[in-house]
Amino acid sequence: MHGTDEDHAKRAVARHAVDAYVTRDACIGLGSGSTMRYAIERVGELVADGARIRAVATSHETERLCHDAKIPLAVFGDEPIGIAIDGTDEIDPQWSLIKGGGGALFREKAVALAARIFVVIATERKCVERLGAFPLPVEVVPYATPFVAREIEALGASVTLRRSGYDGRAYVSDNGNAILDCAFGTIASPPILDRILREIHGVVSTGLFIGLTSAAFVSKPDGSVAALSHPAHGAATFSARA
Ligand code: A5P
Repeated sequence: MHGTDEDHAKRAVARHAVDAYVTRDACIGLGSGSTMRYAIERVGELVADGARIRAVATSHETERLCHDAKIPLAVFGDEPIGIAIDGTDEIDPQWSLIKGGGGALFREKAVALAARIFVVIATERKCVERLGAFPLPVEVVPYATPFVAREIEALGASVTLRRSGYDGRAYVSDNGNAILDCAFGTIASPPILDRILREIHGVVSTGLFIGLTSAAFVSKPDGSVAALSHPAHGAATFSARA
């Protein structure tokens, strides 16, 4: 897909989800990443139009974007979050996700767990039959990183310590932790793998989001947006336009 087509699709799905779920007086959770930039832009428009929206941000970058868009910020835990919206790196037919490509997985999962409704926005190319082509991000306490890396390698993954793009040093998350990108290939059972990983001492959080998604929207390069059918109700289909 051409880059601009992908951007067009990201913008369409982000704006569609905000318009479908964000009310004019609400505390909302805002995820991180390039798709979410468009959702934040749309929330900013609603605020400029007088909506009383407070946002819990899932990363420093999202905080900065909210600040630029004049969206008031709320502290995580201070007030209930009605809906949270976030992008994803992969989504499977059960609505399980791999997230954390941008390194914000811990806070994104915190907000997704706390929100009453967690809405996922994705372009078509994020939809997979089985999770795992995208290396699974795992956030780790820095002291324990070599130990955790070996434990995860023993499970069969190829593990890479994430590095910062600009200076090559170990990437540091907003929580002061390291990220291990763990290439498992196809993940047979995301819930079991998630449980095994979380039992390793030193793992803070995994990028597997299981059973958290309440609604999912997917877009195509032409800007059409579909609500995915709930996994319990049969196969996902495109059904609506943005
Ligand atoms: C951030 O840590 C991630 O979980 C993002 O939500 C995910 O990587 C999707 O990002 P894009 O919208 O940039 O693809």
